[in-house]
Amino acid sequence: MELPASFEVTRQGTSERYSCQLSWLDNSSASQVVELQEYILKTLANKEFFYPLTPAEFGLILTGEGGLALGAVVEEQLIGFGAVYFPENNDDNLGRDVALCGAELKQVVHLEVCFVHPEYRGNALQTRMSALLLKRVSQLKEYRHLFSTVMPANLPSLISQFKQKMKIVALKQKYNNSWRYIFYRDLWAKEHFVEEEDKRETISVSNLDLPRQLTLLSHGYQGLGYRKTEAGIEILYVRES
Ligand SMILES: CC(C)(COP(=O)(O)OP(=O)(O)OC[C@H]1O[C@@H](n2cnc3c(N)ncnc32)[C@H](O)[C@@H]1OP(=O)(O)O)[C@@H](O)C(=O)NCCC(=O)NCCS
Repeated sequence: MELPASFEVTRQGTSERYSCQLSWLDNSSASQVVELQEYILKTLANKEFFYPLTPAEFGLILTGEGGLALGAVVEEQLIGFGAVYFPENNDDNLGRDVALCGAELKQVVHLEVCFVHPEYRGNALQTRMSALLLKRVSQLKEYRHLFSTVMPANLPSLISQFKQKMKIVALKQKYNNSWRYIFYRDLWAKEHFVEEEDKRETISVSNLDLPRQLTLLSHGYQGLGYRKTEAGIEILYVRES
C-alpha cells in the first residue's frame, strides 16, 4: 500500500511529538474505523455536529467500490479517518440539491466524512487528509463536482472546507432535519475565492444567523470565505449571479 504522508503531531495535554502516518485504508481496517467512530460519538460534546456513517456505508468506501479512505495512525493506533464517496445515481447524491442531472451526477464526489481522536485534534489532520483525498480524486479525472455538508456551528469543519477552496452554495435541512451548509467546488474550474483584487461587494454574516444566510443564498449570493471575529466566525457572501 502506498504511504502518502508522514509528519509529527502533538497529543493534547503533552508537549511530546509523535510520528503520524497517513495511509490508504481497505476493508481490513473496518473494525478499527467503526471503533474510532464509536469513541468519537461517545465523547462528542454536541451530538448534532456529526452524523455517523453506517457499517454498510463504511463497507462501500473501504472496499474501494464507492469511495476512497485515508487513515491516520500514531503508535499503531488509528487516530483519524477521512473519506470521499462517489454517490453515482444514488438518492443521496448532493448534486440533486443543486439541480445537477444525468451525466453530471456521475461526476459527483462527496468529501464525505472526517473524524479525529479528541487527543489529536488541532494538528490540522482534517485539512491534511482532505487535501490528500482531493489530490487523489483529481488524478482520477472522472470526477468534477465536489460536494460536502457541514453543520453551521462546526467551526473546524467549516474552516477546513474553505481551505479546500470550496464555497457555500446552499443551506438546507438534511439529516434528521438538521441544518447543513452545502459546500461545492468545480474541480475542473479555475480557483475562485475572496481575494484582495476581488472588488465585488462582500456581505459578512455570522455563521449562526441562518435566516439572513438563507435570504442571501436565495438572491444568488454564495459563501466564498470566512473571517474570525471575537464572537466566532462570519461567512463572506458575494453575489455570483
Ligand atoms: C472536525 C474535526 C475532524 C477537526 O479535526 P482537526 O484535525 O482537529 O481540525 P484542524 O486541526 O484541521 O482544524 C481546522 C481549523 O479549525 C480550527 N478549530 C479547531 N477547533 C476549533 C474550535 N473548537 N473552535 C474554533 N476553531 C477551531 C483550527 O484552529 C483550524 O483553523 P486554523 O488552521 O485557522 O488554525 C474534529 O474536531 C472531529 O473529529 N470532530 C468530531 C467529528 C466531526 O464533527 N466531523 C466533521 C463532520 S464529518
